Amino acid sequence: MNFGVLGYGKIVREQIAPAFAQTAHQIVSVGSRSGQRPAGYSGVVHDSYADCINDPQVEAIYIATPNHLHVPLSIQALKAGKPVLCEKPAALSADEFAQLETAQAETGVAYQEAFMVEHHPQWVDLNTEALGANRLLHTSFTYGPRKSTDVRSQAELGGGVWYDIGCYGLWACYRFGARHLRRVSGTFRTQAGVCVHAQVTLEFDELDAQIEVGSLHWRQQSLTLVTKQERVDVPWPFNPEGPVIQQITDQDGSRQAEFEGNQYANMLNDFAQHCDSGQFLYHDRSAHIAAWSDQILSEVGKN
Ligand SMILES: NC(=O)c1ccc[n+]([C@@H]2O[C@H](COP(=O)([O-])OP(=O)(O)OC[C@H]3O[C@@H](n4cnc5c(N)ncnc54)[C@H](OP(=O)(O)O)[C@@H]3O)[C@@H](O)[C@H]2O)c1
Repeated sequence: MNFGVLGYGKIVREQIAPAFAQTAHQIVSVGSRSGQRPAGYSGVVHDSYADCINDPQVEAIYIATPNHLHVPLSIQALKAGKPVLCEKPAALSADEFAQLETAQAETGVAYQEAFMVEHHPQWVDLNTEALGANRLLHTSFTYGPRKSTDVRSQAELGGGVWYDIGCYGLWACYRFGARHLRRVSGTFRTQAGVCVHAQVTLEFDELDAQIEVGSLHWRQQSLTLVTKQERVDVPWPFNPEGPVIQQITDQDGSRQAEFEGNQYANMLNDFAQHCDSGQFLYHDRSAHIAAWSDQILSEVGKN
């Protein structure tokens, strides 16, 4: 498929463009505010996002702009009849998410939130049914301070570490079976108007979760799931580079499982395969995550 890309920044340079090279699909058109040609890219460049969306050779749109443009640009592309793969978070609030749902339903054009993590082999075959009940989930994801010019540092662009990576902890809750959020508590620390550290405790009917995200510490991430029968440790659960080793410990001892694969390329292939469906792909997951994030923001934090 021929893709148009809106916002050719860090994620496109470092992950998406290389991932395209591992698929049968290609970027044929780029929308950029400046109209500058990205290094290493030789296709068409438009100096407006609308022109890229309406470019006749473009069959689908991938959105990688700052977060505040995700919903407006998604709606613009859906109304132009172009299927959308949009970076996370799909929306900044439940209200915005509802606008997206309405536009998708009215147009009947496919939409998918780009949760690449879903497509990593370490999660694809995970059988949550086989895991014990009474689940306790802990996720941590931190990276170092960002410059004030970074999109993550600017509140008006939907910046802040919660919008940036809090969604991964919520994704893990969903993946391990959470559906009904009963109670939320926690703390959000802000600097210059954006969240730089958040710790939230979530009580679901199905599991208890603690999610920590921050932009003040060493770049690391981890996930631990404890049930009545076992403990699963995942040292690099969200955007691993290279092989991932999961460790499972139960009454028989400890064993390791190794996984490898390009989750970005897998996501592009999955989206392209379902583009003609006219569906809001993975709607239940995205809707739950948007609603939980909204509830957490309104009860314990901002951004
Ligand atoms: N899935 C993942 O692994 C992953 C990782 C990192 C980021 N992301 C997501 O990808 C999106 C982009 O993140 P990024 O790290 O690639 O950001 P980035 O490097 O700052 O790139 C964002 C692009 O958006 C465009 N843009 C439009 N309005 C802008 C504004 N007011 N300020 C700055 N740039 C603006 C710019 O392109 P033009 O000026 O050319 O229009 C810029 O190149 C975010 O939504 C983020 O959550 C996902």
